[in-house]
Amino acid sequence: MKPSDTPKTYRVKSFGCQMNVYDGERMAELLDAKGIKPAADGEEADLVVLNTCHIREKATEKVYSDIGRLRKADGSKPLIAVAGCVAQAEGEEIMARAPAVGMVVGPQAYHRLPDMLDRAVKGERSTDTDMPEDAKFAALPKRRKVAPTAFLTVQEGCDKFCTYCVVPYTRGAEISRPFGELVDEAARLVDAGAREITLLGQNVNAWSGEDAKGRAVGLDGLVKELARLPDLKRIRYTTSHPNDMTDGLIAAHGEIDKLMPYLHLPVQSGSDRVLKAMNRSHTADSYLKLLDRFREVRPDIALSGDFIVGFPGETDAEFEETLQIVDAVRYAQAFSFKYSPRPGTPAASMDDQIAKEVMDERLQRLQAALNRDQLAFNEASVGKTCEVLVERKGKYPGQWLGKSPWLQSVFFEGDAQIGDLVRVELAEAGPNSLKGRVLESVSA
Ligand code: SAH
Ligand code: SF4
Ligand code: F3S
Repeated sequence: MKPSDTPKTYRVKSFGCQMNVYDGERMAELLDAKGIKPAADGEEADLVVLNTCHIREKATEKVYSDIGRLRKADGSKPLIAVAGCVAQAEGEEIMARAPAVGMVVGPQAYHRLPDMLDRAVKGERSTDTDMPEDAKFAALPKRRKVAPTAFLTVQEGCDKFCTYCVVPYTRGAEISRPFGELVDEAARLVDAGAREITLLGQNVNAWSGEDAKGRAVGLDGLVKELARLPDLKRIRYTTSHPNDMTDGLIAAHGEIDKLMPYLHLPVQSGSDRVLKAMNRSHTADSYLKLLDRFREVRPDIALSGDFIVGFPGETDAEFEETLQIVDAVRYAQAFSFKYSPRPGTPAASMDDQIAKEVMDERLQRLQAALNRDQLAFNEASVGKTCEVLVERKGKYPGQWLGKSPWLQSVFFEGDAQIGDLVRVELAEAGPNSLKGRVLESVSA
């Protein structure tokens, strides 16, 4: 790599989960603090950070093709940093195969990006995929102005080792950020304009800490403390694991108005044999019982989940059990994926990998059932009155778009501003959004 001028503009492109989005925002802040400006839409950037995801197939090939395509108007390459989970998993190989890449930085090391950048400007390429515990959070600068909905990573990493999944390898062991640090960061987000905060973690409900008085608290204790911030109107959390669910967090859904009636709780499969082979250590029945307890304290709760079809050895009958659990739950929203063998995971070398056509057919049937339930959930909301947090302008003049408490997209026409909570009546339902009629604006 030849020495180059310090970049004047940057772009961070984040793929994958919300935690990557959070990390992407934090990297942007680090670059801001170095005096580099975000490139405007459509404008070329001197530095491009590819914040990658490794969860499913073709992740690595996609990174190489993105690297190949990046070019400035004069034909030269921008400075490229590869960050995120592909960087963690395949950092060395990326450095060897892609000479255009100047920096490779793992998800736990990106607070070192500014130093790496100084070296890259001198022509030195560097890789940092260390996992120093908690260091990145401590080293990050203050937040800038934020949107009304903000993410806050409270927990990272995973010790569950589901047999199909790369996350324990790319994100490392489970850690919880300290209570005080999170309360401070949430307060700063609210000062900067956030009205809703989504607490993030690969297993967010495994978060634990000590409150200001030194008492041990779980995620419900953190939620209670954040609910005291007057200008914070809504709290959400994702993603939970069935095995980490606590009585306190379930009860919190009946006690804390600001905690939204929405739960994302992946089940993956409805077959106990498959769940065991996945190392999920819950059963279909224990999962359903857990959901019943949420419905007892919050009957209107919107439920969401993740599914994998075609796990090695999954039979037709076992797939039918997944359809049965969908019928039993009636999800408001859900994400479903074809099983993708990930290098280094136990499931990748299991016998009986399922043929692509079988997976395609199963995915189609599952998605048809999930879409049916999502539409039914939206239709059952028609006639309800609720608050919508306005996130952005809609497609047409005078139209606004926001989210209901149940995380449905709602559009409406009327007087509003981004960040307002507007009371609407839900008037019409589609598969992916609802139309609302404005009743009143609750806060400016
Ligand atoms: N920690 C969360 C989410 C992890 S990744 C959890 O345990 O629920 C998000 C989703 O990606 C998973 O819930 C799973 O449905 C899917 N996923 C993970 N690995 C996969 C793989 N190898 N193939 C297909 N889907 C996968
Ligand atoms: Fe992956 Fe399982 Fe951990 Fe979720 S709980 S991140 S699916 S290993
Ligand atoms: Fe992807 Fe890493 Fe998130 S693999 S889903 S970016 S934790």
